[in-house]
Amino acid sequence: MTAPILVFDSGVGGLSVLGPIRSLLPGLGIVYAADNAGFPYGTRSEAEIAARVPALLGRLVERFRPQLVVIACNTASTIALSHVRAALDVAVVGTVPAVKPAAERSLSRVIGVLGTAATVRQAYVDRLSAEFAGDCLVLRHGSARLVTLAEAKLAGETVTAEDVAPELRGLTDQPGGDRMDMVALACTHFPLLQDELAAAATQPLAFVDGGAGIARRVAHLLGPDAGQRAGQGVPLPGRAVFTRADAHVDALARALQGFGLDSTEIL
Ligand code: DGL
Repeated sequence: MTAPILVFDSGVGGLSVLGPIRSLLPGLGIVYAADNAGFPYGTRSEAEIAARVPALLGRLVERFRPQLVVIACNTASTIALSHVRAALDVAVVGTVPAVKPAAERSLSRVIGVLGTAATVRQAYVDRLSAEFAGDCLVLRHGSARLVTLAEAKLAGETVTAEDVAPELRGLTDQPGGDRMDMVALACTHFPLLQDELAAAATQPLAFVDGGAGIARRVAHLLGPDAGQRAGQGVPLPGRAVFTRADAHVDALARALQGFGLDSTEIL
C-alpha cells in the first residue's frame, strides 16, 4: 500500500484544504493531524510556533511515514515552513495567504487579508503584497474569534452571520475599506465560515483561499499515478490524529466523517 499524505493544522482549519485534496485525489491515503493541545496558534509568538511545529511534525512523520506533508495552516506556514523543510526528509507543501489571486480578481484595487494576528503581522505578507498587489491598498485584520467560531461550527454549534460580522468590519471599517471587493481568507479555518461571512457582507465582496491551489500542487508533486487514481470513485477512508483527548474532539466526530476521516486517535 502506498504511503499516506499528512495534512496538518492546529485544529479543524486544515479540513478546508483537505476537502479540495480529496476531491482531486480521492485515491490518496490521508492522515489528518490537528495539534489541539497547542491550539490556537494565531495568538502565539513566532518563537513558540517555530519551535513547536517542526518538532511535532517530526514525530508525526516518524509515526506515519507520509509521502508528503501539507501544512494546512497559514500561521504555521508563514512562520515555520523553512524550519520544517530543514528538519524533515519529505516534501512539504505550505499554505500561502491568497494575496495574489485576490489582487488578480480585484476591480476596485482594495483587497483584505483576513488571517490570524500572527499571520497578518508577518513580513511574508508584506512581501506578497509588494510582489503581487503593488497597485492595491491591502488591508489586514487578525481574528482569533473566527478561529473559535469555525471550531464551534464543526462541533455542531450554530454560528450566524451576526457572529462573524464584527470580524468583517475589522476590514471594512478601515480607511478605504468601503471600496474593498476581495478578501483573502488567510487562515484555513475561515473558508469553513465562508457562507456566514458572505451573508454578513454589507458591500459586494468575494472571498478567495488557497485550498484548490494546494490540491493542484499536491497532485503535481505526486505525479500522474496519484492523478489517475482521482478518477476511481469512492475516496479511501482517512484517519484523524489529535495531540490531546478532550470533549471537543468527540464533538467533531461527525464533521470529520464528512471529510472521510472515519477514525480518530491521540498521538
Ligand atoms: N488554521 C490556522 C491558520 O491557517 C490557525 C488557527 C489558529 O490556531 O489560530 O492560520
